[in-house]
Amino acid sequence: MIKQLLATKSFEHIDAEHRDSQLKRALGPWQLTLLGVGCTIGTGIFVLTGLEAAQHAGPAIVLSFIIAGIGSFFAGLCYAEFASMVPLAGSAYTYSYATLGEFAAWFVGWNLLLEYLFAVGTVAVGWARYFMKIFDHFHMDFLPAALTAAPFASPDTVHIVATGSLLNLPAVFIALLAATICYIGISQSAFVNTIVVVIKVTVIIAVIGFGASHINVANWHPFIPPNTGLAGQFGWSGILRASGVIFFAYVGFDSVSTAAQEARNPQRDMPFGLLMGLAICTLLYILMAGTLTGLMPYQQLNDAAPVAAAMEAHPQLRWLSIFVSFGALAGLTSVILVMILGQARILLAMSRDGLLPLGLGKVHPRFRTPYVATALVGSVGAIMAGLLPIDLLAELVSIGTLIAFMMVCIGVLVLRYTRPTLHRPFRVKWIWFNALGGVLFCGTMAARLGPGTWYRLVGWTAVGLVVYFLYSRHHSKLREHAHPPRK
Ligand code: ALA
Repeated sequence: MIKQLLATKSFEHIDAEHRDSQLKRALGPWQLTLLGVGCTIGTGIFVLTGLEAAQHAGPAIVLSFIIAGIGSFFAGLCYAEFASMVPLAGSAYTYSYATLGEFAAWFVGWNLLLEYLFAVGTVAVGWARYFMKIFDHFHMDFLPAALTAAPFASPDTVHIVATGSLLNLPAVFIALLAATICYIGISQSAFVNTIVVVIKVTVIIAVIGFGASHINVANWHPFIPPNTGLAGQFGWSGILRASGVIFFAYVGFDSVSTAAQEARNPQRDMPFGLLMGLAICTLLYILMAGTLTGLMPYQQLNDAAPVAAAMEAHPQLRWLSIFVSFGALAGLTSVILVMILGQARILLAMSRDGLLPLGLGKVHPRFRTPYVATALVGSVGAIMAGLLPIDLLAELVSIGTLIAFMMVCIGVLVLRYTRPTLHRPFRVKWIWFNALGGVLFCGTMAARLGPGTWYRLVGWTAVGLVVYFLYSRHHSKLREHAHPPRK
């Protein structure tokens, strides 16, 4: 059994799968970059920036973004090396299968489910809030309150209570709409994503550009507000605490690597798309965080729509507020779209390897998309978005992603020693520094997440183990000809 748990997929096998791919190779370097930006800029920048500045870090939220960005950058470099060597759908799951063995791959795949599937639900709920806000702005009350909120809530993050609502209809609508676009085709999805990314990035640049001349530098003093005496309440511990939460803003840049099989020239373009997407998002985040905290005293940014609040606080900027709401709506739309796209491809990879039922790997004869997996992800995402107290699950998204990032950093290092001669179209320099830096930064952020999140992670892993030992292990395609790890 140990032999099977450690069995790795050979690179020769991966190469053959790469050549036989039925998915459509339609994406160039900038489309990949835009997929990354599409999946990254969303709730993090439009909601969490203000809340975390007000509650934990003050103007030093800029430093929290830099810390989370450094962790993501280390992981991004390791992703880029892997993505150029293993140009197959499946992201960190596929990389782990090639290096750390079947069991580690399963563990990563199971955590990626946390990242993508739960993020679809979480972000769809955020989308619904902004959607209703726009209608409020025009005083249009077209949906009864019972159809705009989930029927369950968890005020203390432990117990679940009924809210009296029936369904969050707008959240269900956006999840199903995004799934339909993903079902129809990768080119269509990339096209919609490109339009949406242009809208949201334009809005962010407008906020930074128009906001710059209204910044009051007095709002940046003290840059690091003194700690209140409680851990995580301002000071350096507050900065670190905020970086763990703000990490949510970086979740998703790795989704570029799930589309490797649909890239025209994956060896060259995957590293470019991954790192360029990350660089663009990091820069925009830092500038936006600096602008917001300069426009208003950080205590006043405690608002679920802080960017719009900062615009409304300045009469000359008030006209931008409605555009900010549209930009946020666009931002969240593309996050949902690319998350569904990514998760369906991870399920495709896991089913192709026999770890999940084969039906999930079916590719549509005309659209050439993994349509069964897409329909499943869209439906489950819509149900979660419509019914569940999704706030409870948001931190799980971050922890699932941090674990996947750490596994990728470890995997790329292991592979340098187990397969030193493999062709690496993109080779990370100072690999020890980068890989261990990634583990250290991501590990520190994971440690800052609350104990409830860790308990839920243990529960999720236990369910995963049951599925693995009852189903996946017996159906694994590697079962008969397992390759033990190479010395
Ligand atoms: N990074 C994505 C967002 O902030 C998940 O919405």
